[in-house]
Amino acid sequence: MKLGMIGLGRMACTLRAPSREDCRSRRQKGQTHMKADELVKTAQEIVAGHKGLLAMDESTPTCNKRFARLGIPQDEESRRAYRELLVTTPCLGQFISSAILFDETIRQSTSDGKAFVKVLTGAGIIPGIKVDIGAKELAIHPGEKVTEGLDGLRERLVEYAGLGARFAKWRGVIAVDDRRPSRGCIEANAQALARYAALCQEGGLVPIVEPEVLMAGDHTLQRCSEVTEEVLRTVFIHLFAQGVIPEAMILKPNMVLPGTACSRQETVEQVADATVKCLLRAVPAAVPGVAFLSGGQSGEMASARLNAMNVRFKSRLPWALTFSFARAIQQPALEIWRGVQSNVSAAQKALLHRAQCDAAARCGEYDAALERGDQEIAPRGERPSQGRVS
Ligand code: 13P
Repeated sequence: MKLGMIGLGRMACTLRAPSREDCRSRRQKGQTHMKADELVKTAQEIVAGHKGLLAMDESTPTCNKRFARLGIPQDEESRRAYRELLVTTPCLGQFISSAILFDETIRQSTSDGKAFVKVLTGAGIIPGIKVDIGAKELAIHPGEKVTEGLDGLRERLVEYAGLGARFAKWRGVIAVDDRRPSRGCIEANAQALARYAALCQEGGLVPIVEPEVLMAGDHTLQRCSEVTEEVLRTVFIHLFAQGVIPEAMILKPNMVLPGTACSRQETVEQVADATVKCLLRAVPAAVPGVAFLSGGQSGEMASARLNAMNVRFKSRLPWALTFSFARAIQQPALEIWRGVQSNVSAAQKALLHRAQCDAAARCGEYDAALERGDQEIAPRGERPSQGRVS
């Protein structure tokens, strides 16, 4: 009896002529589904094949700090010239699917007037944008930070999408010692990441969700593993609560590592095992890709550890394991360039070399021969270790 009444109720509802409100909400639902399909496709494109991401989204103070160490002038023109070097690197699109830009950079152009966004898309690289405005002191939690930038974010996302960005990035920072992180710090950062991610998806941009457990300190690998697992679990609880579509996002976590000052430094294989174990426990299978930050590791170490994960686990993982490095991919190029125009070509070769090594690592095909440059750069579309040097 009750069931029949429900059925009748439903039929009555179906037969009623749709109101303007119904039509509007159906149209909106249709648009949302269309957007969701596009977001899922973009997320898959970002982590497809053998490629990874180039993070070149250092804020102005961070970029200036890195320039200062090498005696490079800390002004807008130097930052523009350096980013021009990066985006015009020949063949970069063979190994890099996407590049994360900073607010200043997404508005800049090459010296001959071509917008960086156009240069990137012309090279087959998807442009994205860092949208957080940095980590600030968390109230009543000495030594802990929460990332800010939610105010006005909806409007900023509209502008960035208009400038050509197809994805965005937000980084939360978690420090580790005997007492930290506090539950308050983990919750605050996870909630901000989830609210940012929801705004991105609403605005048609794929969110790259970056909760970074820092390497600084003397904590053990085991401690990093416990903290990273708690952080990731909390982040996904908040992402779920905010309705974020897991298929339409990328996770950008730290690898599970002992602190830089820890007396015991595990092997590449032990790091690979601990990292994958942690991800398997905390990251839903629906997420298409995990793109690691490098966090201050050397380029070689970051490639070797990513490679070990793919060698040991690739065939058994639900998500792609790739890279989204800044320092580990850019540092040799920056050190060669040093602000000198005649060094541009050598610096671009160094950037491409690291990109090639990282692309090999995401396939589990990285080795010492590649690091020495004995192997050649593959033509577009081929696997990185099967091709020829250019
Ligand atoms: P690193 O690879 O240098 O850690 O930078 C990645 C990044 O995007 C930081 O937000």
